[in-house]
Amino acid sequence: MTRRFLFVLGSSRPDGNTELLARRAAEQLPESVEQRWIDLAAHPLPDFEDLRHDSDHVRPTEGNTAVLLDATLAATDVVIVSPLYWYSVSAHVKRYLDHWSGWLRTPGLDFKDTLAGRTLWGVTALAHEEPVVADPLIGTLNNSAAYMGMRFGGVLLGNGSKPGDVLRDAGALSRAKTFFAQDAPLARFPYQTD
Ligand SMILES: Cc1cc2nc3c(=O)[nH]c(=O)nc-3n(C[C@H](O)[C@H](O)[C@H](O)COP(=O)(O)O)c2cc1C
Repeated sequence: MTRRFLFVLGSSRPDGNTELLARRAAEQLPESVEQRWIDLAAHPLPDFEDLRHDSDHVRPTEGNTAVLLDATLAATDVVIVSPLYWYSVSAHVKRYLDHWSGWLRTPGLDFKDTLAGRTLWGVTALAHEEPVVADPLIGTLNNSAAYMGMRFGGVLLGNGSKPGDVLRDAGALSRAKTFFAQDAPLARFPYQTD
């Protein structure tokens, strides 16, 4: 089966550290793997409106919402490329994930069944020297994958403040080389210890 990676870019500036690091990791993917990159800043989603319990909730057919929905359904691997903002994902990424809640309830989409068994990955850049402060972002993505019945490949972390800084983080560049080759087990909530 052809693997199709969807890279969802969530920075509020172009060519930032997170995207640079994600591109280094993506360079290692075999030619046979399809890659699609969507920048949420260039494809802004409307604010999420909670219509989950309204019966007239229908599939979006146009605009950025339809583009993101179709790309997500088509992906075997979804890569959240988000800078660390206030210890978690950026607002662009949060809004994209909020839309998942609507898609989960949209009749005819089978959003959860389609994504179950597929893989969620994360790439993030942060200014803080101690990577442990990114734990809330890692937990957000791990738990979201667990909720969806997805696999979770973990989060590739890099250090940097101004664009380009991450290219001096030798550890991050080295981890990028093998990141997508890692095994991605089925995601589990932290309380699922068996
Ligand atoms: C709104 C905002 C919030 C941020 N919050 C954090 C943070 O909580 N922890 C941290 O280490 N760095 C934080 N930073 C710094 C960014 O993570 C850092 O500059 C990173 O390289 C940005 O990624 P980008 O270059 O891909 O845009 C923040 C930056 C911004 C603009």
